[in-house]
Amino acid sequence: MSGGVNGAVDADRGRAQRARGAGDVAGGTVTDVLPDAVTSGVPGAAANVAGPVLLDVRELRAGYGRVEVLRGVSLEVRAGEIVALLGSNGAGKSTLNNAVCGVVPPTGGRVRFDGRDLTRASSRDIVCAGLIQVPEGRRIFPNLTVLENLELGSYARGRPRRAANLERVFATFPRLKERVAQKAGTMSGGEQQMLAIGRGLMAEPRLLILDEPSLGLSPLLVEEMFALIGRLHADGLSVLLVEQNVGQSLDIADRAYVLENGSLRFEGSPAALLASSELKRAYLGL
Ligand SMILES: Nc1ncnc2c1ncn2[C@@H]1O[C@H](COP(=O)(O)OP(=O)(O)O)[C@@H](O)[C@H]1O
Ligand SMILES: [Mg+2]
Repeated sequence: MSGGVNGAVDADRGRAQRARGAGDVAGGTVTDVLPDAVTSGVPGAAANVAGPVLLDVRELRAGYGRVEVLRGVSLEVRAGEIVALLGSNGAGKSTLNNAVCGVVPPTGGRVRFDGRDLTRASSRDIVCAGLIQVPEGRRIFPNLTVLENLELGSYARGRPRRAANLERVFATFPRLKERVAQKAGTMSGGEQQMLAIGRGLMAEPRLLILDEPSLGLSPLLVEEMFALIGRLHADGLSVLLVEQNVGQSLDIADRAYVLENGSLRFEGSPAALLASSELKRAYLGL
């Protein structure tokens, strides 16, 4: 696999040294959707050395109308990390994601990215800074082709290297290359999720926020989606993984947060979270 999904990722990888190659073994499940180079990865096998803080969220508050959803949430993601944000349906995970990305205006607290204050910045400025989200529900443009959807990913950022980034996305998702001219809305759910991630990669993310990438996929595709995320991470991408799928998220995460009713209930290592039967029962349904 080529080094990193883009130059910015390569730079972050330089700072956050990690062991690679552990997943380069044959024998992964191969389906008709994801390449075996991706599915054969061993998520979480890389030695993770976190770099400087990329995303720094402090006491963030946000809501809808008079209803406050986020009640002062603080979290951080360092360069080279994959951080899981867990919590049940309605906990406020997507609201947090959208408040960070400029979709829902924060009512309090602050968001810093790579040392810059982006609280209440426009979505476009946030994208230009390299903070890229793949929203829940994919949000691809169904009437545009696969290629058009991917090209839109580099509308605000990454345009000078669009052709090279497109080749990298196609190397990661050969299925997308086979379907460049297909209307995105006619693709399967798994393919649409790949397109949504590919579109995010076109913007040269310094941090990629994935909001429930496994939602609505078959169990086999869920496995492969997590393997893919593990592989992108092993390739140097920093990821905030928002998920209800606790077990598989903790398998690939360096650190985890648990959100419940708009407040954090846990912050720490996956091992520490899994060691607490109380936390697992109360917040994770395990
Ligand atoms: N656009 C919206 N307008 C009003 N309330 C919303 C909106 N989006 C989410 N909510 C409410 O905010 C709370 C948190 O939702 P959400 O952030 O989507 O949770 P999660 O992503 O963890 O499932 C829920 O009570 C939900 O009903
Ligand atoms: Mg959500």
